[in-house]
Amino acid sequence: MATHKIILDTDPGIDDAMAIFFAMQSPDIEILGLTTVYGNVPVSMSAQNALRLCDIAKQSIPVTQGVGMPWVGPESTYAHFVHGDNGFGDIPVAAPLGQLDPRSSAQFIVDTVKANPGEVTLVAVGPLGNLALALRLCPELPSLVKQVYIMGGAAFVKGNVTPLAEANIWNDAHAADIVFGASWPLTMFGLDVTYDIPFAPDFVDILAQKNPILGGFVRDSAQFYMDFYSQGLPERVCYFHDAFPLAYLLKPDLFTFTRGHARIGTGELDRGQTAIAPVGSTMSPLWLEAPTVNVATRVDHAQLTQLFIDTYAL
Ligand code: RIB
Ligand code: CA
Repeated sequence: MATHKIILDTDPGIDDAMAIFFAMQSPDIEILGLTTVYGNVPVSMSAQNALRLCDIAKQSIPVTQGVGMPWVGPESTYAHFVHGDNGFGDIPVAAPLGQLDPRSSAQFIVDTVKANPGEVTLVAVGPLGNLALALRLCPELPSLVKQVYIMGGAAFVKGNVTPLAEANIWNDAHAADIVFGASWPLTMFGLDVTYDIPFAPDFVDILAQKNPILGGFVRDSAQFYMDFYSQGLPERVCYFHDAFPLAYLLKPDLFTFTRGHARIGTGELDRGQTAIAPVGSTMSPLWLEAPTVNVATRVDHAQLTQLFIDTYAL
């Protein structure tokens, strides 16, 4: 299989950590950089947490700190209620050993894509401010990237922050509007697939058994996260949203897509809505004039789960 060169834009975060370790484990993914953004936690914590994950995995990968505020509006209140005060479920984590790359995340994205024209897949699993800023720094960026995959949005299902909006898009709706409106090939892995079927309570135990260091960290840090997701449910559940676009890189046949015109809500009520009109489903110029994107609508969960386990076991 060809090696996929990616930049992983992330707000670690527990499911981000699981996704980052998954990518690090795969021999078919080359991570050119971890570009961090605010979202689950403040951007300074995202950046330091990305450095910590590189230490745990003994990987030398450039890490940058990116935007810490939404394109429009006040500072986020973050998602410590989901990811803990330290972003890793409040398990003890050592201070990072590495140093940040001095560039901003947006500048790193532009520099790296320009140095590898047509070869880099941008995988964004947090709010989209770094990608929006990169587009402003380098208007020709869409012609230079290979693909753009995002974990975010809710096309034909309810949101997880409001009835209409998923967290990554809601956190920076104007940046998302810029990113979805650019002329690059964008594929959206939203709650339609990432929230479709929970991972069983023993999934993290299996990861830990297969890979005591990386899987063990995911199991330990995910306990707080599983408490949040399991509230009021008869058994513990877990959702690893951010690994889905990376799984697609390795096994695209696991996923089913629809193609549609995408519009992003930026008003008070529709903030963060990913309003997708499947091609041919509307005559509205408001959608017809919007770029079309690929939207993941189904995934083979059994094979996806096995892919995660097999990759952690490598
Ligand atoms: O809605 C889920 C997304 O928001 C995931 O990326 C999670 O890490 C949070 O950033
Ligand atoms: Ca994330």
